[in-house]
Amino acid sequence: MKILVLGSGAGGGFPQWNCNCRQCAGQRVGEVPARARTQSSVAISADGSAWVLLNASPDIGQQLREQAQLHPRHGLRDTPIKAVILMDAQIDHVTGLLGLREGPCIDIYATPCVFEDLTTAFPVISVLEHYCGTRWHMLGVAGSAHSATFTVDGFASLRFTAVAIPGKAPPYSPHRGEQTTGDNIALLIEDLDDGSRLFYSPGLASVGDSELQWMNGADCLLVDGTFWAEDEMLQAGLGRKTASDMGHLPQMGDAARAGMVDVMLGSSARRKVLIHINNSNPILDETSAQRRVLDGHGIEVAYDGMEITL
Ligand code: MLT
Ligand code: MN
Ligand code: ZN
Repeated sequence: MKILVLGSGAGGGFPQWNCNCRQCAGQRVGEVPARARTQSSVAISADGSAWVLLNASPDIGQQLREQAQLHPRHGLRDTPIKAVILMDAQIDHVTGLLGLREGPCIDIYATPCVFEDLTTAFPVISVLEHYCGTRWHMLGVAGSAHSATFTVDGFASLRFTAVAIPGKAPPYSPHRGEQTTGDNIALLIEDLDDGSRLFYSPGLASVGDSELQWMNGADCLLVDGTFWAEDEMLQAGLGRKTASDMGHLPQMGDAARAGMVDVMLGSSARRKVLIHINNSNPILDETSAQRRVLDGHGIEVAYDGMEITL
């Protein structure tokens, strides 16, 4: 299985257009050693020729321009992108669907909650009906059904499992105040040819026994790296929301709760990678103490253009 990181940043990317914090300002002028990052999305392939997008970032135009493996190959108009799987209905994960409107009808795999949000509160899919159109593939994660295994047409050797995870629906969703099964999913992807497994979850609010079970046996964890600390945005004066308010488990735990670093340390995965990194997170600075902690534990920080082969 090939994994191509198209965007490794959280909402807003890095540096964020209106942000003058130490990291964003320092990155712009080259004083903070950190890579710029677009908003999160990855592409998956079994053979390197056909690709599935996991989320569609608002930065999709730039991402596809920069990734030669995703350029058109045959005929006048073409794309190796065969489908899009959505983890949630957040702006940074779905707006890129609009950027695909010049192409063929889009095969979208998502839960009923996400299709609902994207045809009502944030009607991206309804808008697309006036352009390329969409084909819906409903993932059976809703009500009491907490996981659903599925295949994506044209990817016979990959087995996908959508797993309901703790998280937040977007601010515009009718479910924002009350978590509903299917608002947020993680994906377990297994390559049936070689047995390799990826666990992908760019937005994960907490890790309990159920999440640990799904992570168990993965060769690669590619998971929520939004915040280092629970109150990072408040401490930096950048916002009033905590990591928990936004549905993200911070890397650093406390007495009451293990952080994502602790979770990753307990995993036997060969590759442990953080993605969806917010511009406030000190791990973006390659010389930071927090980045050294990750290095010491063999935990990687995803960057745009990163390729992982399992
Ligand atoms: C999040 O991950 O919490 C959201 O994407 C935030 C945002 O889009 O501003
Ligand atoms: Mn996000
Ligand atoms: Zn900033």
